[in-house]
Amino acid sequence: MSELEDPSVKILKLLKRAKNQYVSGEELSSILGMSRTAIWKRMDSIKEEGFNIEAVTRKGYRLITEEDEYGINYPYGKLAVQSEVTGSVIGQNLKFFQEIDSTNKVLKKMAAENAPEGTVVISDMQSEGRGRRGKAWMSAPNLGIWMSVLLRPNLHPSSVQTLTLAASVAVMRALEPLKIEGMGIKWPNDILINGKKVCGILTELSAEAEKVDWVVLGIGLNVNHIKPDFPNDIASIATSLRMNINNCTGLDRSVIAASIINETEKVYRGFIEKGSSWIVEEWKKRNITLGNNIKIISQQGGFNAEALDITAEGKLIVKDEDGKIHEILSGEISLREID
Ligand code: BTN
Repeated sequence: MSELEDPSVKILKLLKRAKNQYVSGEELSSILGMSRTAIWKRMDSIKEEGFNIEAVTRKGYRLITEEDEYGINYPYGKLAVQSEVTGSVIGQNLKFFQEIDSTNKVLKKMAAENAPEGTVVISDMQSEGRGRRGKAWMSAPNLGIWMSVLLRPNLHPSSVQTLTLAASVAVMRALEPLKIEGMGIKWPNDILINGKKVCGILTELSAEAEKVDWVVLGIGLNVNHIKPDFPNDIASIATSLRMNINNCTGLDRSVIAASIINETEKVYRGFIEKGSSWIVEEWKKRNITLGNNIKIISQQGGFNAEALDITAEGKLIVKDEDGKIHEILSGEISLREID
């Protein structure tokens, strides 16, 4: 357990680990180095998040697991997410909101006010969720993971594209245990399942000429939607995790959000230690772009091309219909065969 960790998170981890058995106040107080009264007070903050804790004299405390209408055992909240975080940087400072305008907007403001690297903002609902190219991002309550992560990498601004690829690799790695067929990354960092979008990532940064100050990775993941939850204009192009798992009534967003946080920390460390070529390799293993006929969508108009490869900086190398090679740094593509 990290020394910096909130005692309520430590208590929740110990209660979860006890798997419905009682943990005595004495044991908690000796593990955490806190008085039994202080432990008792902390239980209130855990209960406030919606956890059901039973306290029985001479036995101690027990976390009662109850399934909600979606078959999910625990609430979605700050302590629920942090009790599943395994790393030591990303997610240690975590702000959780029921409703907010946009997690990217809030985290960008916190970044400008010196919030530490690894700060995470999550909201159950966003009233002004933003996607790439100024589009709105549908962020209704109870359904998805709307989350932003703050990084302060010691990088030249030209390397940030690799970080955006890294973010999609981290989300893919977090989702792989769900064993969903047909999931992959569309350049640069959209995650699709059988041609429909399940996750989008909006990277925003502040940099000087030679060095990045901060990067905010904004991750929007559709988790528990069923088809009618999507507005008409996106119902045919969007999907959710639940819609792609047989007989699934719902998934625990706290566990998935924490896995994304944990994988983001591992992938970020891998990037710093092994360099961008490692990210490019990890990205290529999971991509559904290379080798396909695509359409490049840019402000100057679109053109058809074949996606050949990506460079070490994450640029997409394509061959147009006249056989001319282009390197695309940023922008949108569509996979002609499937979307
Ligand atoms: C895209 O257009 O594909 C990117 C979508 C990014 C949406 C996420 S949700 C959390 C964060 N806050 C925002 O306002 N946007 C990002």
